[in-house]
Amino acid sequence: MLTYYTATTLDGFLADEHDSLDWLFRQEHDESGPFGMEAFMAGIGAIVMGSTTYEWVLAHEDGPWPYAIPSWVMTSRDLAARDGGDLRFASGDVRPVFEAMTAAAGGKDLWLVGGGDLAGQFAEAGLLDEVVVSVAPVTLGAGRPLLPRRLDLELVESAVNGAFVSSRYRVTGPLREDRS
Ligand SMILES: NC(=O)c1ccc[n+]([C@@H]2O[C@H](COP(=O)([O-])OP(=O)(O)OC[C@H]3O[C@@H](n4cnc5c(N)ncnc54)[C@H](OP(=O)(O)O)[C@@H]3O)[C@@H](O)[C@H]2O)c1
Repeated sequence: MLTYYTATTLDGFLADEHDSLDWLFRQEHDESGPFGMEAFMAGIGAIVMGSTTYEWVLAHEDGPWPYAIPSWVMTSRDLAARDGGDLRFASGDVRPVFEAMTAAAGGKDLWLVGGGDLAGQFAEAGLLDEVVVSVAPVTLGAGRPLLPRRLDLELVESAVNGAFVSSRYRVTGPLREDRS
């Protein structure tokens, strides 16, 4: 199962126009509480992200690659791998990436870290099962969009964690009005 698990502003942005997440990290949040990272990561066997997110992690995390599982980075460029990680770079069609992630994950689930267009690419391929969002009490007016596609989703569950309202949605497919 592929889950897009992320935090977002109330007006649907992952980051501001300068890729700042300062608005996010100052919020009250319990990593071991409802929808927290600890329980989520325990079920994850492989991750995928776009190159902006990868470069954000490199710029903000010192030391070795922080994820101890196979990690794919989508890029059309020739990017260097951070030491200490099982990093794999890919471009183009996300379907072979999904197959390789599934094979590497040892039966565990897959995490789509971001960004929003990459989530849209997996959704268009019919490969995005869930969206789990934690909504911060912030609006930015502009920035990197959460999921810039027209989709229908079904609310499965929700909870409050600190300053966040977190919800799990099942992706049901293209927006009903767009289906022929
Ligand atoms: N709020 C949160 O919890 C959260 C979570 C995740 C990310 N973020 C932040 O949100 C921002 C996301 O940035 P973003 O929206 O620009 O998205 P992104 O997905 O991180 O990066 C987009 C870039 O990835 C590459 N890419 C994407 N799909 C590709 C494909 N199929 N083939 C080849 N390359 C592909 C392209 O760059 P190149 O080809 O030029 O390399 C593209 O410009 C970042 O600032 C990140 O730190 C926040």
